[in-house]
Amino acid sequence: MGALEFLPPAAEDMEEPFKVEIAELYRLAQSALDEARNFRAEIQPDFLIESLFKVGTSAGGRRPKAIINLNPETGECYSGQVAAPAPGYVPMIIKFDEHSDIPTTRIEYSYYLMAKDAGLNMMPSRLVEGGPAAHFLTERFDRREGKKVHVQTLAAMNPDADSYESLFDTACRIGILPSELKQLFLLTVMNVIGGNVDDHNKNFSFLMEDDGVWHTAPAYDFTFSVDPSAPGYVNRHSMTVCNRNCDIGRGDLLELAKRYNIKGADALIEKAVGVVSRYEDYARQAGIDGYWLQKIKEETAYRIENMCETTRN
Ligand SMILES: Nc1ncnc2c1ncn2[C@@H]1O[C@H](COP(=O)(O)OP(=O)(O)OP(=O)(O)O)[C@@H](O)[C@H]1O
Ligand SMILES: [Mg+2]
Repeated sequence: MGALEFLPPAAEDMEEPFKVEIAELYRLAQSALDEARNFRAEIQPDFLIESLFKVGTSAGGRRPKAIINLNPETGECYSGQVAAPAPGYVPMIIKFDEHSDIPTTRIEYSYYLMAKDAGLNMMPSRLVEGGPAAHFLTERFDRREGKKVHVQTLAAMNPDADSYESLFDTACRIGILPSELKQLFLLTVMNVIGGNVDDHNKNFSFLMEDDGVWHTAPAYDFTFSVDPSAPGYVNRHSMTVCNRNCDIGRGDLLELAKRYNIKGADALIEKAVGVVSRYEDYARQAGIDGYWLQKIKEETAYRIENMCETTRN
């Protein structure tokens, strides 16, 4: 699109691991954002800024993030673009605290805690807190024991996918096992009940093992993405269930389950309802209170109410 072109880096210095400081990267990301807001960003040749670009530009997505190798014992952190300098480093994505009115990283962490309790498969994740900032760290599923794992998003496999039915169709076409279809169904239910309306086709992935068998990737970017200050049409799900992108009810979810032969759908919905209705506990663990706790409780309570209906006209 447009006049800008992407040239993959070819410089030799990209091949060597280099050390980075999370706080420093965060400070630079913040000042870049502040400058962008004032429309007067001027990027000077600067080693640290260069290192921010190197770690920060390959994960994609909307939020500021970086790819790192972290030693959980020492807290030491290296660029994640190349292999870690020594054993003991874990490949991770760090999503930076955006210091906006929305505590996005804390909310994402509270949703991670809920997902785990609901039985949804996600990579181990945590918050790193430094002063008032809280960054969200998650382990990468596309790296395992120093090796790369082949991953494709739903968008790459089926660019037109704009419904959960097309997600399941794609999954069935590549031979995903019933137990993993069940995971996808649980993710669908959690997105609907939890208010993750940013459920576009880049937020689902499949990964292939060495033996050539496809699997569903662990869930990621699972968070509250309703904007309470926006009109209703802004807060519709990106992907539909039974042609609905809002007010999705239990009947719609059960119909989806029936179509793809998901066993025990009712029990999965019940489990999800039970977990999401205890949101306050998860919010407290993640350090969320006040306005956002209230808004998430209100929105999810409304969504849980939709789960009481079994039929629709
Ligand atoms: N744990 C992970 N392991 C490997 N790849 C991941 C992981 N989490 C996310 N990704 C990849 O990185 C991309 C960006 O991550 P994520 O979706 O969390 O960011 P985001 O900025 O919140 O995205 P969005 O633009 O959807 O709001 C994802 O589309 C996915 O391809
Ligand atoms: Mg995303």
